[in-house]
Amino acid sequence: MLVELKNIYKNYYGDKQLVVPVLNDVNIEVEKGEYIAIMGPSGSGKSTLMNIIGCLDHPTKGEYKLDSNDVLKLKDKELSKIRLNSIGFVFQQFQLLPRQSALYNVSLPLIYAKVNKKERKKRALEALKKVGIEDRSDFKPTQLSGGQKQRVAIARAMVNNPKLILADEPTGALDSKSGKQVMDLFEKLNKDGVTIIMITHDENVAKHAKRIIYIIDGKLYNSKEEAMRHAQ
Ligand SMILES: Nc1ncnc2c1ncn2[C@@H]1O[C@H](COP(=O)(O)OP(=O)(O)OP(=O)(O)O)[C@@H](O)[C@H]1O
Ligand SMILES: [Mg+2]
Repeated sequence: MLVELKNIYKNYYGDKQLVVPVLNDVNIEVEKGEYIAIMGPSGSGKSTLMNIIGCLDHPTKGEYKLDSNDVLKLKDKELSKIRLNSIGFVFQQFQLLPRQSALYNVSLPLIYAKVNKKERKKRALEALKKVGIEDRSDFKPTQLSGGQKQRVAIARAMVNNPKLILADEPTGALDSKSGKQVMDLFEKLNKDGVTIIMITHDENVAKHAKRIIYIIDGKLYNSKEEAMRHAQ
């Protein structure tokens, strides 16, 4: 099992001790090699869940095992190591460094991993080649189209060979053709054994996943019908 969340609760605390419950007894098990889409209305807790799975945020309560590591017992340093080596992140707005080249952006996780310069260049170029834009390696994000930026972001996400890719609305800012290219890349990565968890609003995007999970008001459901029934 790659991801095991048990009885996860997440509350945010607003002004005047106002408690905002966001995740409410979430349970999820993800096997290695799965490809999952998470769907749900705005504000339902999708990104909150993703941040917890990505070891970027702690739940208020619950248990989380990632690849048998008891994540909630780990120190910050160990968590950043897990994030660096085991997880690749892809975001709706790409999150590239605007003043740096595509090559440098893709090299960044390798710099953190203390890979030497020559090896970095080699691996970053390989990753750019895999996503089909090695000819843009010297371009800065402002010189790239949205679809190309997302492909650079995917190259960055996979350059450390992570087991898990977490994508929060990866096609949300793209036209349908670039969205399709991103889906093709995810399919290829998944075929190579990478586990993918992807948030999307788009049913046509979700269809590419092998399993769809629905979230409404911080609770998970395995089918849309079940989700609708409980939401009423
Ligand atoms: N840092 C925070 N402090 C307080 N409340 C927060 C915080 N982050 C998120 N929330 C609240 O948690 C709820 C869920 O937010 P989340 O970002 O997980 O939703 P989402 O499902 O990703 O929505 P969207 O589809 O719009 O991205 C929202 O009601 C939001 O206001
Ligand atoms: Mg969100």
